[in-house]
Amino acid sequence: MIRTSAPKFRVLLALTILAFGGVLWTGPAPAAAQSPDGVLKLLPIPERVAVRDGRFRIDDGLVIGGPGPASSRAFMAAARFMSRLAGRTGLFLKQDFLAAQSPPGEGGIRYAYERAGKLQPNEDESYALSVGMAKVTLTAKTDIGILRGLETLLQLLSADETGYYYPCVDIADKPRFTWRGLLIDVGRHFQPVDVIKRNLDAMAAVKMNVFHWHLTEDQGFRVESKVFPKLHRLGSDGMFYTQAQIRDVIDYAADRGIRVMPEFDIPGHSTSWFVAYPEFSSAPGAFGIERKFGVFGPAFNPADERIYPFFDAFLKEMSALFPDPYLHIGGDEVEGHQWDANPAIQAFKKKNGLADNAALQAYFNKRLLKILTKHGKKMVGWDEIFQPGLPTDIVIHSWRGQKALVEAAEKGYQGILSNGYYIDLSQTAEIHYLNDPLPSDSPLDDRQKGLILGGEATMWSELVTSETIDSRIWPRAAAIAERLWSPVSVNDVDDMYRRLGFVSIEIEELGLLHLKNPDMFLRRLSGGPRVKPLKVLAEAVEPLKNYQRHGQAVYTSLSPFTRFVDACAPESLPARAFRKKVDLFLAGKDPRLGADLERILAAWRDNHALVLPLVAGSPALREIEPLSLGLFRACEVGLEALSHLSKGEGRPASWAEERGQVLAEAAKPAAHAELAVVKAIAKMVEACAGSVK
Ligand code: ACM
Repeated sequence: MIRTSAPKFRVLLALTILAFGGVLWTGPAPAAAQSPDGVLKLLPIPERVAVRDGRFRIDDGLVIGGPGPASSRAFMAAARFMSRLAGRTGLFLKQDFLAAQSPPGEGGIRYAYERAGKLQPNEDESYALSVGMAKVTLTAKTDIGILRGLETLLQLLSADETGYYYPCVDIADKPRFTWRGLLIDVGRHFQPVDVIKRNLDAMAAVKMNVFHWHLTEDQGFRVESKVFPKLHRLGSDGMFYTQAQIRDVIDYAADRGIRVMPEFDIPGHSTSWFVAYPEFSSAPGAFGIERKFGVFGPAFNPADERIYPFFDAFLKEMSALFPDPYLHIGGDEVEGHQWDANPAIQAFKKKNGLADNAALQAYFNKRLLKILTKHGKKMVGWDEIFQPGLPTDIVIHSWRGQKALVEAAEKGYQGILSNGYYIDLSQTAEIHYLNDPLPSDSPLDDRQKGLILGGEATMWSELVTSETIDSRIWPRAAAIAERLWSPVSVNDVDDMYRRLGFVSIEIEELGLLHLKNPDMFLRRLSGGPRVKPLKVLAEAVEPLKNYQRHGQAVYTSLSPFTRFVDACAPESLPARAFRKKVDLFLAGKDPRLGADLERILAAWRDNHALVLPLVAGSPALREIEPLSLGLFRACEVGLEALSHLSKGEGRPASWAEERGQVLAEAAKPAAHAELAVVKAIAKMVEACAGSVK
């Protein structure tokens, strides 16, 4: 959560081969992933896939059928499936699938399951999918397995000169981890219900199954309380979810096989509560809703007996509202100054033998645990709640490192990993993808490994609005979804990126705005429709990473998040493709890449002249001139280096040094962003210099 103006606080931060017959795909090796006529693009990659010869043709006569009433989860998923399939193919499907879920006859897609799945950890999500030339069979233990299989089937859609088809395959699939979550922080920036729903749809598309709703923060109290209505009325600027909206979101998620776990972050990160109830804080009020970001002082007063009946009543209300068996109490980053400065709290600590603030927080957590247990909830909290004396039926959510998770598991606690999945850091999908909750060098034994439930991507929202949130989550979160679903042996980074590109486009049909909205931003900034040069520049630019943006301005929840940096993807896939090409070229793997690199560098260089008139016409764009100029100069250097490399000419060290200075200048942050291609160009310069004797 974080919070941070002090971002530093935040981030100190086999496939078993089954003899299905036919071509067997064991996952990570893309060459083996060839279907008879292309490459599968499944993400996450299933546990077992065998591709056979043959195609199941899709035309307007396609039917789908299975058991259960029209109100059943599987039936509604089948209806959505047909609608999405029609949308992708443009086919006027004849089946009135909303009225006749079990059409007569044998062909088409047939699904069957044994029972309704429960929305709780360790529920069976497995499925088996068999695509033959004449029919598709999807079977599962639970209807949730059917949902997962339908998403796989949508991803199998392929096309040839004849039309659409599914390649014939046999798939047997189940998740590696039972907890595959996405946290959305709606405290720092409120996210309306439609934003939440479209992200639930995208989660379901990549088989994620826990929506962690971070509902309270210093900057906002976002849930209606009928018992304590002052909380949302005074603590939210009017931006909160009604209980009817909460129930609607929970139902929507449940229809997609997704649990909704609420978080009420206490005892710190709680300023917005004290706007209504200053008497529960550890220092005298008044309090206002916090606008800045960071770790703030206000904290509940564990020594005040009045807070416990308050939490009892509040958590009773919330426990009834949220059906999930788990409730997250936060517990992170209690800054402690209010506790230290309060003589009554100091006396309380002494009287109760609480040696330090961690012990005081553990006392508070024990009291809360009793309350939660009474209301039928299991307690989850950030790794700060991992303190001696708490029973092992709480779940430790690790954000500061894998160490807490390991230590907790060694002591018998279940755990969830988010360290390494902080998608608000603007890091690459690759970094998140290679971060495993159970790395190969894990010191845990098999029983302890079983305590690691999975992980969650965390979308902290200091710098994120409802206009930008999709692009800050997707497609990178899909890489985390695969890490948590697919076998540990699935770790081919390039192949993940290949498939990520497909998923990114496919989830657009669900209303996700990650690809569309940047164009809208650029039109708004330029005040006109001609934004191509800005798009070209954005390809080479990424927002500053690792919370460095907070060092560029005092951001608050009221700041504009509509600038050029907000239109740039956290990870530019064209920039990544360029860097890969440079590496391959320099490794001598493919000399033809030289022409490709020349074309790209020339286009970026020439773009500067096209950006300048747009900048001249828009004060909001002035800040990007150094970025565009930097790209121009870096590309000039790159073209020069490329020319020498292509001719096999070496250059003296002084030449490389001068070029290096140009590149160092181009690499400097501007407009809260940076060029993502300069290091690759520097490698080209170094390669020239290295060839001189
Ligand atoms: C956190 O990022 N403070 C959980």
